[in-house]
Amino acid sequence: MRLLPFLTLIPAALARAARHLETGAAPQVFVNTAVARTVDLGRSTTLVTTQYNVKALSDDPGAYILALGADGEAEPAWYEVLVGGKVVAVEVDRLGDAPAAVVPVGKMGKDETVTISLNVIATNTTRPLPESIEQREPQFMLWESATTLVDSAYTSDVERIKIRAPTPMILSHGKVPKTYVRDSDITKSSSTITLGPFYGVPPTVGKDSKAEQTSFYVHYETREPVVGIRNLKRAAEVSYWGNNLNIQDEVELFNAGPKLKGQFSRLVHQQSRFHAGTPAQVLSEFTLRLPPSSHGVYYYDVIGNVSTSRFRPGQAAVAKKRAVEGTLELRPRYPILGGWNYSFTVGWDMPLSENLHTDSDRAVLEVPFLTPLKGVVVDKEEFTIILPEGATDVQVATPFAVDSIEYSTHRTYLDTIGRPKVTITKRIVTENHALPVYVTYSYPLRARFSKPIAVGAVAASALTLFMLLRRVNYKIEEEEEKKEEKRD
Ligand SMILES: *[C@@H]1O[C@H](CO)[C@@H](O)[C@H](O)[C@H]1NC(C)=O
Ligand SMILES: *[C@@H]1O[C@H](CO)[C@@H](O)[C@H](O)[C@H]1NC(C)=O
Ligand SMILES: *[C@@H]1O[C@H](CO)[C@@H](O)[C@H](O)[C@H]1NC(C)=O
Repeated sequence: MRLLPFLTLIPAALARAARHLETGAAPQVFVNTAVARTVDLGRSTTLVTTQYNVKALSDDPGAYILALGADGEAEPAWYEVLVGGKVVAVEVDRLGDAPAAVVPVGKMGKDETVTISLNVIATNTTRPLPESIEQREPQFMLWESATTLVDSAYTSDVERIKIRAPTPMILSHGKVPKTYVRDSDITKSSSTITLGPFYGVPPTVGKDSKAEQTSFYVHYETREPVVGIRNLKRAAEVSYWGNNLNIQDEVELFNAGPKLKGQFSRLVHQQSRFHAGTPAQVLSEFTLRLPPSSHGVYYYDVIGNVSTSRFRPGQAAVAKKRAVEGTLELRPRYPILGGWNYSFTVGWDMPLSENLHTDSDRAVLEVPFLTPLKGVVVDKEEFTIILPEGATDVQVATPFAVDSIEYSTHRTYLDTIGRPKVTITKRIVTENHALPVYVTYSYPLRARFSKPIAVGAVAASALTLFMLLRRVNYKIEEEEEKKEEKRD
C-alpha cells in the first residue's frame, strides 16, 4: 500500500551514531566544506533553510549528527532533513544539551561528499515591538536568535547566512562574532541582511564546542496582520449512508500583532482604508483553500451565520484538466485589531469515496490534520474523527509526532453500540502539518446495514406509539424522519 511512506525503519547501523550522542560530542569524522543558510522573517513563523556540503574525513564515517538547534533549545516545531535532495527519516536525540538528528548518509569513503539540507519552521522567535501601537501606526516585529552562527557538531570551512525581512524597513539588527570574519561581516541590501562569510568555524554544539557565539536580532516592519490560533477543534465525521465526510473547524483566532493603544475608531479605520489601504495590523478578511469537491460550506460565529463570506466551489480533475481548490473568503463580523480575539466555526462536506480506500474488510480513511493558513501557528489542536458504528480494530497513523491519541465511543440517540471515536491532540501546529492522518479499521459488510435497521426500528416503534395513542400526526412523523436522515 502507498499508505505510510513516513514509517521508514531506522537502519541498525545508526545505533553506533546514537551511542556517540550519549557521550555528548560527535567524533570529528565529517567537515562542512560550505554552509549556506537563509532565514525568511515573516509574521508568527520563521522559515529557516540550511544547506550543508559535507565531506567525510575517514572511510565509513557512519551517520551525520545534525544539530537542530543550540544548547538548551527545543526541537523545532516542524522540520525536514534531505540527503542529496531526498527527504529521509531521522532519529532525534540530544547532543549534550542541543537537539540533534542522526542522519543516514549511506556508506561513504574518505573525501567523498554529500549534500544535506535542513528546512525548519521556527515558532516563538518573533514578537511585536513596541507591544502596543495606535491604530494608524506601522507594526514592527523583533526576531531574536540565541545564536548567530549555524549550529553544527562539526567544523565548518565557510558559512554564509542571509536574513530576508518582508520589507526594506529594517530599524536595527545585532552584531556578529568577529573571530571568523576576514573581510565583510554584515552587509545590508534592501530587505536582505547577509552575515559573513565566516571561515573556520569550530563545532558550536556538543560538550567540546569552543565556538564563539553571540545572539542576533532583526527589528523589522511587516505589512501583513500577524495572526495566531489559540485553539483549533477539528471534527471529521464519516457517513457511509450519505457517502459523506463532514469536516468542521472550531477556531479561536487572535491578532498576535501589537495591541491597539486606546480606543478603536471606526472613522479612522474607514479613512485609512480609503486613503492607504487597510492598516497592516488589522485583519479584515482571510481565505481558506478547501478540497476541490467540498460543498455545503457553512460559517458562523457566536452571533450566528456570517453572511459576508464567499465560497467559490472548486473543480475535480477531469480528463487533462487539473483539479481546482475551492476558496472560502471569510470576512469576520468586525475588523480584528491587535490583541483582539475572534472565534468562529466553519464546516464543509466532501464525498467520502474520495477519502476512503477499502480492501475487502479493511478500510483506510485519509483526513487532513489541518487546513493551513500561511504563517499561522495553532497553539493547540484537538482533532476528532468519528467512524461509522460497527467499525472495529481502529488504528491511527500520523505523519508526525503528536501529543496524544485516544480511542473512545461517540454515542447519539440513534446509535445502538456507539461509533468509534479517535481524538488526537498536538501543541504547536504549523501550516506544514497540514498532512493527511490515516485511520484504518475493519468494517464488516453486516455493519454497513446496521444503521438502516436501527433507524427503521426507531421509526416503527415511534409509529406504533402514535397509533396506540390514536393521535397520529403525520407531520411530526415526517419531521422525525427528516431529522433521522440528517443525523446519518
Ligand atoms: C516563547 O518564548 C518565550 C521567551 O523566550 C518563553 O517564555 C515562552 O515560554 C515561549 N513559549 C512557547 C510556547 O514555547
Ligand atoms: C448563511 O450565509 C450564506 C452566505 O451569505 C448564505 O448563502 C446562507 O444561505 C446563510 N445560511 C443561513 C442558514 O442563513
Ligand atoms: C483574548 O483571549 C485571551 C485568552 O482567552 C484573553 O486572555 C484576552 O484577554 C482576550 N483579549 C481580549 C481583547 O478580549
